[in-house]
Amino acid sequence: MKITLIGSGKLATQLGLRLVEKKHTILQVYSRTLQNAKKLAIKLNTNYTNELSNIETNCDICIVAIKDDFIQKLSNKLFFDSLIVHTSGSVSTEVLKKYKNYGSFYPLQSFSFEKTPNWETLPILVYANNESSLNRLQRLANSISNNFHIVNNQQRKQLHLAAVFANNFSNHLFHIAEELLKEKNISFDLLKPLIIESVQKIENTSPKNIQTGPAVRNDMETINRHLEQLKNNDNLNQLYQLFTQLIQNTHKK
Ligand SMILES: NC(=O)c1ccc[n+]([C@@H]2O[C@H](COP(=O)([O-])OP(=O)(O)OC[C@H]3O[C@@H](n4cnc5c(N)ncnc54)[C@H](OP(=O)(O)O)[C@@H]3O)[C@@H](O)[C@H]2O)c1
Repeated sequence: MKITLIGSGKLATQLGLRLVEKKHTILQVYSRTLQNAKKLAIKLNTNYTNELSNIETNCDICIVAIKDDFIQKLSNKLFFDSLIVHTSGSVSTEVLKKYKNYGSFYPLQSFSFEKTPNWETLPILVYANNESSLNRLQRLANSISNNFHIVNNQQRKQLHLAAVFANNFSNHLFHIAEELLKEKNISFDLLKPLIIESVQKIENTSPKNIQTGPAVRNDMETINRHLEQLKNNDNLNQLYQLFTQLIQNTHKK
């Protein structure tokens, strides 16, 4: 398919590379910052612009992969007869409703510039305002991944919220753990087998079934010792108490 790519960030970069690998044609990269548009266009061997009036509109799909807060503002300034989609987990597709054909194309993964994700298993969640657009998005998704799903706006927003807990918050907890270890000159590497083992376990069972630790055992003396260790850090002390309470509520007999 012929694709106009709006954005040159982490998602636009990885998605653009995958689309080219799967023989789609990126007609052009638009980005607010010319240097960034050029950098991605070179990787994708295509044209680039930072002028909204020069955007290539003769495409099958225009993919808008920019910061959530600016999707509506920028797309209101564009004119497309073809299909236009955004890639956000939490922004409603209604921000594109001035178009005849619109929707979302949300790859559910955490992207970075450096690491190529495993596209074969990566869930692509799509939605469109009409059947023919949905079919087009389905064809595009199936060409780059084996994990295609149709999800409406409410479901996608809920998935995004769940992903924030499962990925962003858990990653911040890893950071907290790393900082706690640093205070005593201990390497974070020591925790990695534990983290990896837990993630591997949830491939085959619910996270609820593998909960361990003082909260689920109701080991009050250990909990109080941990709170004592955190007595000079109000935020972590409160966080520890809140998590302990949530775990105990979940596993109440
Ligand atoms: N990264 C992920 O893991 C991920 C996963 C799923 C979905 N998404 C979604 O994909 C979209 C892009 O995310 P990203 O992580 O790729 O972002 P990113 O790496 O931070 O890149 C941000 C992009 O937004 C553009 N931008 C920033 N402010 C702008 C403005 N005021 N007007 C126009 N363009 C502006 C930037 O253009 P310049 O650099 O040229 O200034 C850049 O192309 C978002 O909707 C996000 O929710 C991201």
